[in-house]
Amino acid sequence: MRQALTKILAALSILLCSSAAALKADSDSREIVSAELAKPVIRGAIVFKNYCVLCHGERGDGLARSAKLYGVVNLAIRKLDEEYLQKIVRKGGAGVGRSAFMPMWKAELSEEQINDVVSYLELVGDNVSRGEVVFKTNCILCHGITGNGKGRASHLFDPRPADLTRSDKNDDYKRMIITTGGESMGRSAAMPAWGEQLSPQEIGDAVNYLRTLLVGN
Ligand code: HEC
Ligand code: HEC
Repeated sequence: MRQALTKILAALSILLCSSAAALKADSDSREIVSAELAKPVIRGAIVFKNYCVLCHGERGDGLARSAKLYGVVNLAIRKLDEEYLQKIVRKGGAGVGRSAFMPMWKAELSEEQINDVVSYLELVGDNVSRGEVVFKTNCILCHGITGNGKGRASHLFDPRPADLTRSDKNDDYKRMIITTGGESMGRSAAMPAWGEQLSPQEIGDAVNYLRTLLVGN
């Protein structure tokens, strides 16, 4: 009995090791994914979404829903040098002689979050960069970091997640399948519907980014 159990355990561990090795060869490694998600701009984008979008808008252009509450103050984030950005984010508008409606963040956010969000401010105006962040924070476990369909979880699905570097679908189709999910388009239900989690702006940005992943681009 005991011997049989030992044999089963041994067989199981061989199976586990070999599938782990196969996984490694065929899909993104855990290290690569963690390194990608630890990039300051990726983390900074999340901070921006949680704390800044409300006033500055998803594109940092000041066209947020609450912007009108601040009357004539322009909420667009311009290209400014890093030292100034650090200062206004830490000390708030009042700390640099600007509107006090810009909160002081140094007590609210960690050092790391402040540095991260400041590095994201340089990219917030660029639709492809914003789309890259949407893709990397939502899609890579299935579609892979490079979009080749070999994400860490890709082997769990049949059909496999699409290879987005070789997609023959146009932007409208992509926007639709991302918003409403695979099932509503007669495709696999494993492709989730993102229309509730992501805004139309974010989905549009992701589609722009996907265009840059196409081979031969
Ligand atoms: C409650 C609304 C509000 C929130 C939330 C907010 N801001 Fe602001 N922010 C403002 C206002 C108002 C100004 C404009 C100040 C002025 O022009 O006098 C401003 C200005 C700025 C500027 C200077 C823009 C320029 O071009 O001069 C930066 C940079 C900035 N905010 C970054 C951030 C970051 C990063 C966050 C999130 C951590 C954030 N803000 C959250 C209201 C807000
Ligand atoms: C849980 C796994 C999973 C996640 C997460 C996921 N997808 Fe998919 N996606 C799939 C699968 C599976 C298919 C293929 C469906 C089929 O072939 O029937 C697919 C198909 C697609 C297609 C169609 C491509 C083509 O050429 O036909 C696009 C575009 C797409 N996904 C974009 C995205 C984007 C953008 C995200 C992130 C916001 C995302 N997917 C997240 C599993 C996933």
